[in-house]
Amino acid sequence: MSEFKCEDVLPYNSHECKKEQISKMFDHIAGTYDPMNHLMSLGQDRRWRRKAIERLASFNPQRILDVATGTGDFAIVASLSLQADYLLGVDISEGMMNVGRDKVQKLGLSEKIHFQYGDATELPLESDSFDAATIAFGVRNFSSLSKGLKEINRTLRKGGVIAILEMTEPENWIFKLGYKFYTKIGIPVLAKLISKDQLAYDYLPNSIAAFPQGEEMRKLLLNCGFSSVEIKKFTFQTCTFYLAIK
Ligand SMILES: C[S@@+](CC[C@H](N)C(=O)[O-])C[C@H]1O[C@@H](n2cnc3c(N)ncnc32)[C@H](O)[C@@H]1O
Repeated sequence: MSEFKCEDVLPYNSHECKKEQISKMFDHIAGTYDPMNHLMSLGQDRRWRRKAIERLASFNPQRILDVATGTGDFAIVASLSLQADYLLGVDISEGMMNVGRDKVQKLGLSEKIHFQYGDATELPLESDSFDAATIAFGVRNFSSLSKGLKEINRTLRKGGVIAILEMTEPENWIFKLGYKFYTKIGIPVLAKLISKDQLAYDYLPNSIAAFPQGEEMRKLLLNCGFSSVEIKKFTFQTCTFYLAIK
């Protein structure tokens, strides 16, 4: 039985496992992911990543693992702002990473940012080997949230830091009303215009609604071996930033 409701939310069907469906879904939307993401968030996704990376600066991480790296935006901002020596992006969608590889090459960052296939719930990486781990809009898709967070904890050195960005349903009822209207009307229209995959953008609000938020996430992070959890909400509570220490 699943520990969290979001683990049972699937984009396409009830017979394939979550990992398989998620990797297919992101391979399918990879080509339009970046423009759709920036448009859907009205450019806020860039600001959220920047803010998360600014908070990481005081830890001066030199080896950073970007889990669910997708097209590499979090890794790119981290590389440019933190001047880290080594960044590794892992993901289960080669389609998304191929877009990321192209961007990184065009920016001349191929020496610093590397991509590797890897599932967050069984990372092909050594223990205690990173100073920081980042995940933007990825945890919601894990087949097991606890397994993924424990795995990431394993790869961090003691004192290492995890920074998570995830979409959230606002608690404030006025913000929630606006959010519901936007996800029910605005996003499907944008998805129809830009993306080929309507189901992927139905999955988005459904998985956000089922994802543990705020204090529930704090408890989960503590259970997965982290401490000193910080929580910050951005842009009408539609995005939450979590920071915690191993
Ligand atoms: C919404 S995208 C986010 C991409 C990127 N982090 C960003 O900031 O735009 C989510 C990514 O998580 C990846 N993903 C989902 N489940 C994963 C898992 N178990 N392990 C690794 N990556 C995963 C997907 O393939 C996809 O590329």
